[in-house]
Amino acid sequence: MTETIIITGGSGFIGSNFVLHWMAHESAPLVNLDYLTYAGNPANLSSLSDHPRYEFVHGDINDRDLVAKVLRRHEPCGIVHFAAESHVDRSILGPEEFVRTNIHGTFSLLEEAKSYWKSLPAPDQQRFRFLHVSTDEVYGSLGEDDPAFCETTAYAPNSPYAASKAASDHLVRAYFHTYGLPTLTTNCSNNYGPFQFPEKLIPLTIHNALHGKRLPVYGDGKNIRDWLYVEDHCSALRCVLRDGRPGETYNIGGHSERRNIDVVRTICAVLDELRPESPHRPHADLIEYVTDRPGHDRRYAINSSRIELELEWKPQVTFEAGIRRTVEWYLQHQDWVNDVTTGSYRDWIETQYAKRGGGN
Ligand code: NAD
Ligand code: TYD
Repeated sequence: MTETIIITGGSGFIGSNFVLHWMAHESAPLVNLDYLTYAGNPANLSSLSDHPRYEFVHGDINDRDLVAKVLRRHEPCGIVHFAAESHVDRSILGPEEFVRTNIHGTFSLLEEAKSYWKSLPAPDQQRFRFLHVSTDEVYGSLGEDDPAFCETTAYAPNSPYAASKAASDHLVRAYFHTYGLPTLTTNCSNNYGPFQFPEKLIPLTIHNALHGKRLPVYGDGKNIRDWLYVEDHCSALRCVLRDGRPGETYNIGGHSERRNIDVVRTICAVLDELRPESPHRPHADLIEYVTDRPGHDRRYAINSSRIELELEWKPQVTFEAGIRRTVEWYLQHQDWVNDVTTGSYRDWIETQYAKRGGGN
């Protein structure tokens, strides 16, 4: 077995940030297996194209022959599994792809990881880790005064996305208990930061505000999410991979619960300040309440005391600092945004928002 880790979905939002973070903080090689769906963008990692410790493999986690070949060739000591369909609204309009990638894809990967792991000598079997990157959405929705989700909160997924991630978490759990595969699962709250596809709330708001388009806020705007700057998520994953206990799950959160309307207003205020010459100031005038998402979870909040106490991880970036960094990144990377907002992106925005009412 080598020091190499294999990650899936490394060309997406969190995966790209993780690859760059890994290269900056670790000395082991990394292989990125990614299918390059609409959410995967090889340009995110173009700075690594000649890096001796980085290799990209184009492929689907459902392609078991390919996965087996990659495992045999690189003999990794760990797999970090990011690959997924990740957008709740897309899962409402087309759930099948979520079942295929998130459930069946995770199953295929687990099967091949198990065969590979079984072929290893005992000391290597003990060192090997399969880290499954999941979400807090598997726990369902909290009321205003409910305690935050902890690792023993019962699963109660409400969207096809959350249900598919919940199913994948259960498979991972079963592979630990049934076969002894040394798995780790993380359930993280909403991430934001560089390279996030502008279909999600924060980058969509920045992108629309810059172009003077309406800022769609679902329902009454009072749904709450617990926001975590993506780099903090990456450092948490490194901690769990290094020191997490096999079979265990770790909740990861930012101690940053915010109502959606407040998130959007904060972005508008930062843009007002950074773009004083914009004809769209005050950007908050672009806010428009639109039809709510069906089954929209009211509140997510994470109790991350297990990872904080056991692994001594803590988020480093406050929401205010992280949002400012994020807005600045999008202002400086308009080319990246233009590249990803292609024809298919525009078709999605059309389908998604036409039904919700409003101006553009
Ligand atoms: P993303 O949609 O930005 O990226 C997903 C990546 O997976 C893309 O690069 C895509 O090409 C790749 N992919 C999709 N299907 C594939 C397949 N069949 N085979 C190989 N690659 C495939 O997602 P993200 O926001 O970076 O999320 C990454 C992971 O983190 C997901 O598992 C998600 O559930 C989880 N997560 C996300 C958040 C969040 O706020 N974004 C929070 C908690 C957990
Ligand atoms: P999103 O970024 O899609 O993440 P998730 O659904 O995984 O939490 O949405 C974050 C919150 O913002 C969620 O409560 C839905 C809301 N939202 C809007 O109000 N308007 C939008 O245009 C989008 C995309 C999301």
